[in-house]
Amino acid sequence: MDAEQLMKTAKALVPEGKGLLAADESFPSIEKRFKTINLDSTEENRRAYRELLFDTKGMEEFISGVILFDETLRQSHQNGTPFPKFLENLGIIPGIKVDTGAKDMAGFPGEKITNGLDGLRDRLKEYYDKGARFAKWRSVITIGPGIPTRGCIQGNAFGLARYAALCQEANLVPIIEPEVLMDADNTIGRCEEVTEETLSEAFYQVRQHGVLLEGLILKCNMVVSGKKCSDQASVSEVAEATVRCLRRTVPTAIPGIVFLSGGQSPQAATEHLNAINSLGPHPWAITFSYGRALQEPALSVWKGQTGNLDTAKQNFFVRAKLNGLAQLGTYKPDMEPKATA
Ligand code: 13P
Repeated sequence: MDAEQLMKTAKALVPEGKGLLAADESFPSIEKRFKTINLDSTEENRRAYRELLFDTKGMEEFISGVILFDETLRQSHQNGTPFPKFLENLGIIPGIKVDTGAKDMAGFPGEKITNGLDGLRDRLKEYYDKGARFAKWRSVITIGPGIPTRGCIQGNAFGLARYAALCQEANLVPIIEPEVLMDADNTIGRCEEVTEETLSEAFYQVRQHGVLLEGLILKCNMVVSGKKCSDQASVSEVAEATVRCLRRTVPTAIPGIVFLSGGQSPQAATEHLNAINSLGPHPWAITFSYGRALQEPALSVWKGQTGNLDTAKQNFFVRAKLNGLAQLGTYKPDMEPKATA
């Protein structure tokens, strides 16, 4: 393990005014996204779509790293450059999702446990050789009647910590992503309680497993009202609850915290990030690592057609830029484009 390199990479992922693009949708997830534009999930369509995003001129001003899926790491731009190299040439750090998905957890009805530790050491070596310099592992915590259980929270935290230790051994910066889902009808208070317990346990396990905190990034949910809750918290309530929760649970030794968007609209995700950073200074860099909230405006106009590429790229560029401003706390809702929002 090269501690210096890990710390340097971790810092480089969270510079001022930049964040991450999560473009690591698994086969089932990308199929779901393509369905919304009536596009078949073929290997070439997936390649072309990722090329659209990576080949958006100027996005590197706001994107520090891109999380890739295994297939994408092995694909190339139509000019022949492998995607990891293409991103590296833009000064963007290529990363890789390495878990193999959240599966039903035996003995814990309604809860999930993330798979992927078997054979991980060898896969990490290969990913490093192919140019990846950081990795991501997502675990999922579901809120519902009687859940999450301690068993689920602990089991997932253990997996995150084992994964993080293996990543650092392979000189890949681990992003640990314990995601508390926002799909239920719970209040923001319940989300805060569950997120606090989830993050506390994640960092307890990370410490138990000897992971270097300065060479690790946290990716988590914001503290929000469940989507089906009749009482939706305001932007400032979300920002205050999120910051309080992070301050209670996240060691200040880690260089950065990045958020998933989790089903928030693109504009809401940007507004929340901006409000959170406006409450700073914080002991860590806080930025975005959005999938849907960065991609939706591009995907929805692209529709798989070459003629729509320019508008799609423009939409992606605008979202990346506005989130870059939100990282600085200088975004304003009136900066939203009128026609392309
Ligand atoms: P969303 O921003 O679409 O939630 O995706 C981020 C991510 O990487 C989930 O693992």
